[in-house]
Amino acid sequence: MDRRSDYYIGRREFVAGVAGALGALIAILVGIPIIGYLIAPALRARSVVGWVPLAPLSALQPGVPTPCTFSILQQTGWKRTRTTRTVYVILNSGSDITVFSDVCTHLSCKVRWLPEQGTFVCPCHDGVFARDGTVLSGPPPRPLDRFTTKVENDQLFIYVEK
Ligand code: FES
Repeated sequence: MDRRSDYYIGRREFVAGVAGALGALIAILVGIPIIGYLIAPALRARSVVGWVPLAPLSALQPGVPTPCTFSILQQTGWKRTRTTRTVYVILNSGSDITVFSDVCTHLSCKVRWLPEQGTFVCPCHDGVFARDGTVLSGPPPRPLDRFTTKVENDQLFIYVEK
């Protein structure tokens, strides 16, 4: 008669249990860093770009909205993209400088300055903005967005957040 207790574990069960436990331990040790590597970029907050040089003040024509471009490196998840954007700079009297985004506040189409009309026009739904960025007509719900500016050594900078 077999006198083994109910808690007896045979050699095969013991080896299978140890192998399973080691496999699970290895999976955890390898898997956690891999999962962290894969999801970390998606969880990372989008960083502020900061101050971006735009143009020398001496190169800008006073009183006229002047398109200026700049490029920034953006990271969305795992993808890094260099994006070129356009803004409109207006040198007003004195040291007053206004920099408008060229993105329409309706559905983000690109607005253009039409000098003959003296307005910014959005071609998508005929949104029209005045020289000061306010909405003259069309569906845009608010004025054109403005950038914070600073000037250092004749160089105009704008503060870019994304
Ligand atoms: S996107 Fe500019 S008016 Fe609609």
